[in-house]
Amino acid sequence: MSAVIVPGRNYSEQAARIASILNYPLAKVYWKEFPDGEQYVRIENPELLSAKTAVVVNTMYPGQDKSIMETLMLVDACTRAGAVDVKLVLPYLAYSRQDKLFLPGEPVSFSIVLKTLRNAGATGLVTVDSHSPEKLAEFQGKAVNLLVSDLLVQEALKYSSNPIVIAPDKGALKRAEYAAVKLGLRFDYLVKTRDRVTGQVSYQPREIRISGEDIVIVDDIISTGGTIAEASKLLLENGASSIIVAATHGLMLGNALEKIRAAGVKKIILADTLASRIRDDLVEYTDVSRRLAEAVEKVLEQVERETRR
Ligand code: R5P
Repeated sequence: MSAVIVPGRNYSEQAARIASILNYPLAKVYWKEFPDGEQYVRIENPELLSAKTAVVVNTMYPGQDKSIMETLMLVDACTRAGAVDVKLVLPYLAYSRQDKLFLPGEPVSFSIVLKTLRNAGATGLVTVDSHSPEKLAEFQGKAVNLLVSDLLVQEALKYSSNPIVIAPDKGALKRAEYAAVKLGLRFDYLVKTRDRVTGQVSYQPREIRISGEDIVIVDDIISTGGTIAEASKLLLENGASSIIVAATHGLMLGNALEKIRAAGVKKIILADTLASRIRDDLVEYTDVSRRLAEAVEKVLEQVERETRR
């Protein structure tokens, strides 16, 4: 399959890694911002894309709104440069947590993002640990949601021994189970509630048999750190020996890091799905580009099989 990797501005290192793993050419993209804040992109070697499949690789954090617009512009530029098809690799999809109406009068922002990407001309999407995988159907093209919790928990095993994998809420259970089953570990979940107005997290009592075990908490996103901090405190109070956090997307906003440190967490393992990095001894990043590259290869092979039929 002849495809070209087209890098987004803030995710160009990972895009280059994916290109190198797959041995695909990498397009060169010029980016600038106009004085009024609008963005401009130009593929400097558009001839590379002629009659090829373009794979736009970008992330949507930080600068969610700008990244969405940049991605749309890249899709359009690829099509105009003669690409026959455009696929997206977007390990972090913005607005995925507003995937339904929580309160009357709200929009479903995630639907808007997915539909807009599809309408721009992208026919396939590879993402990582979407907060709302069932909603990806609204992209109306081939959408692949990769779980990387096994890679993160594997890393966590450097700091813990035979841990129990815990999901901090029922919604995170699938990704905890995925990692635990792959690695032969016990798993369980906590029951969390969040005040929709204040954002405050609280936990309901639930019996989990812990007697001195190490715990790995698995979650998709660390935003304010409230979920991880409260879950960690509860687990330590209930007999956990140590807590390692394995989370896919580490937004780590405000004082999240300090909150989590103060809750007694020993290590935070994050996937490199975002363009921002926390430089602190508590935090470690795991490279997921190989898994992204494998997914791209599979998607493109499937397209090839279908076109040969
Ligand atoms: C919620 O359902 C998500 O899976 C995460 O647990 C949540 O987004 C984390 O947010 P915070 O760090 O603000 O508690």
